[in-house]
Amino acid sequence: MVNDMTANEYKKLVDSKLSEFFNPSGMSYDGLLESMHYSLTAGGKRIRPTLVLEFCRISGGDVEKALPVACAIEMLHTYSLIHDDLPCMDNDDLRRGKPTNHVVYGECTATLAGDAFGTIARSELPAENKIACVEILADAVGSDGMCAGQYLDMVGESKRLTEEELDDINSRKTGALLIAACRMGVAAAGGSGEMLEAAAHYGACVGAAFQIRDDILDVISTSEELGKPIGSDAQEHKNTYMALLGESKCMEMIEKLTNQAKSALCGAFDDTKFLCDLADSMVTRRK
Ligand code: IPE
Ligand code: IPE
Ligand code: MG
Ligand code: MG
Ligand code: MG
Repeated sequence: MVNDMTANEYKKLVDSKLSEFFNPSGMSYDGLLESMHYSLTAGGKRIRPTLVLEFCRISGGDVEKALPVACAIEMLHTYSLIHDDLPCMDNDDLRRGKPTNHVVYGECTATLAGDAFGTIARSELPAENKIACVEILADAVGSDGMCAGQYLDMVGESKRLTEEELDDINSRKTGALLIAACRMGVAAAGGSGEMLEAAAHYGACVGAAFQIRDDILDVISTSEELGKPIGSDAQEHKNTYMALLGESKCMEMIEKLTNQAKSALCGAFDDTKFLCDLADSMVTRRK
């Protein structure tokens, strides 16, 4: 069992495992595999797999055993990014510092690469907690989760939404997958119902803070630092807290949410320093 992992060590573990997937292997459909490998290994902070592994560790589980679960959620996240960048959605041409999947491989392959990630993720889950993990993932991604959030984000363009509607979009398009990551870490360790509930509460607060910070960075950062275009939200007439309330109100919201995230862990877990630091990083993250 791996103890006291740093964020960098988690990232290395995940990066190394992910690089084993979808290498061209002489198949007639190698072009599809290549496009999947491209986006999966293009970089990325690996926040969702890190949450899986750390929640597994503090729930008393074996981090190495949770690695396939961590990879599965990163594949689903990568699928959401490939589709999010398509011309029919946010129409962005840079992701993780590289041209987006559809720019390199075309819209058709990019669409299919996203679809394929959605199903391969399931087959990577370990047998002993497959059902629990599939249920958590399906709920997070499906028609009430990330896909619903992305739909509402798209149909909300150019409309003036309320804060309540914006919270609903953010909790589905981004919060759902972060909550799933936290819960799957606990589930992989066979943790208690109390732990699952605390993990979900933490994930919801960090997820909300994460998207608000993402919206701030879309305005104040540079594409070199972010690895994706800036100004994309304004160009697509997106509803964001940044557009609605401005940067300083957004920062107040993030600070409140990160404090709520940290409080959510109290009582259910002992060793929470890593996750408290991760919540705090939402306030200052530059990418
Ligand atoms: C970007 O997610 C999409 C959002 C939910 C805001 P990340 O900021 O985690 O992207 P990567 O994985 O690091 O590229
Ligand atoms: C996307 O939110 C959330 C997803 C489900 C991918 P954004 O559209 O703001 O994400 P970025 O800024 O393109 O990474
Ligand atoms: Mg989007
Ligand atoms: Mg986008
Ligand atoms: Mg964004």
